[in-house]
Amino acid sequence: MSLTSIVAPFRTVESRQELKLLFLAQPIVPVVLLSVRLFGKIRKVPGLGWVVTDPLLARQVFNDANHFTIVGLGGAGFWWKQVLGEWVLELFDGVGHHRIRTAVRDLFAADFTNLLIERAGGESFRSLAEDLAAGKQVDIVAWSRVTVGRVVADLVGMDSNDIADTFPDADPSDIPGLFRLLSKEGENLANYAMGIGSPDMTEEDMASSRQVVHRITSMVPRAYATAGSDTVLGRLRDSGVSEQHAVGLTALMVVAGTQTTIATIGRMVALLHDSGEQHTLLADPSITPDTVRESLRVTSAAAAVGRGVSRDVEVGGKMLKEGDEVKIFVWSINNAIGPFKADRAYVPELRQLWFSGGRHLCIGATLVNVELARVLGALIADGRPWRIVERKARSRLLVPGYEKLVIELV
Ligand code: HEM
Repeated sequence: MSLTSIVAPFRTVESRQELKLLFLAQPIVPVVLLSVRLFGKIRKVPGLGWVVTDPLLARQVFNDANHFTIVGLGGAGFWWKQVLGEWVLELFDGVGHHRIRTAVRDLFAADFTNLLIERAGGESFRSLAEDLAAGKQVDIVAWSRVTVGRVVADLVGMDSNDIADTFPDADPSDIPGLFRLLSKEGENLANYAMGIGSPDMTEEDMASSRQVVHRITSMVPRAYATAGSDTVLGRLRDSGVSEQHAVGLTALMVVAGTQTTIATIGRMVALLHDSGEQHTLLADPSITPDTVRESLRVTSAAAAVGRGVSRDVEVGGKMLKEGDEVKIFVWSINNAIGPFKADRAYVPELRQLWFSGGRHLCIGATLVNVELARVLGALIADGRPWRIVERKARSRLLVPGYEKLVIELV
């Protein structure tokens, strides 16, 4: 990878805005994400472990459960173990993980997802389109927090009463406010996992994380007992998955499903605006699935995905030893092929690397695709382009994103 490919992102307005978001999230992040491209396909880097920047090697690691583990140092499971306890290992890998994914699989398939999104978010998507068409200014981030919170809560099996119990200080009659709070808690918890290179948490972060987990899962025992079988909690109960595991999975769902999606929605809307590519989409709405895929590629909200080496193994001509840490730089790999293009054709090499791969491929992938397509549908429903009235980036957070992104149709 050449120096030219490193400076390329600075050439377009939309890439500069994206780099600014990354910088404000954590100043070191854009530096690392751009410079790892110079290291070659795989290289051991002090402080980071084995750095992978090649899509085929990334796929090899994701697909090889015999030599790599998500619960090893650097993997997401390792972080959750510190917050929830050793039992998490049963939930994240091996037989327990397979059992849970099997129990809930159909709740994440396309048919159910379409029903879920219409049930929980249909009204939100319609009012977004109506408000924009009526000339109102809409803060896409505030809107996303409510909508994404509603969808995740419905999927898990929490209703607004459960969430009102979770936040006793909140006004129980302000239903959008309750879902916004749930999303914010998910975002807060994700932020304790900051630091691409250092999965170890401070005692203070650990205590705060446990408090948030406790809060967002305080209703699980009740919902676990009563939730319908078309919800994650109901399905876990029916399949004999313990209440303790259900608590862990609820926390995981709220964290995994909120911050990444909310950040991606805001960044997608800004990317389309800043690049002028919204006009390509407005001219041909049939490219919506391509635009969604392209937005996921360029934003790559989970910028780096970690694994631990569980047994010695050769990757790309290098010998990785048991106990080593591996970082797959998903953002760097995905962004190497070029700038944002709303109608970019499918790139087989990348497939959907923004959702990782193998047995831990994001279970919410279909849900995210449908949610993003519905957002675009609402934005282009009136046939007019939008402009950004106000934007504010968030600082000090795991997934770069906007705190505020106010748009209006022009
Ligand atoms: C733009 C939005 C999203 C992105 C970019 C994203 C990305 C990812 C990635 C990269 C992983 C794999 C991590 C690894 O291999 O270590 C993952 C796993 C996961 N995601 Fe997502 N995600 C998104 C939204 C969602 C949503 C909406 C949900 C659910 C409501 C969700 C639930 C999960 C779960 C439960 C896992 C763990 C899967 C497993 O280990 O088997 N995600 N996600």
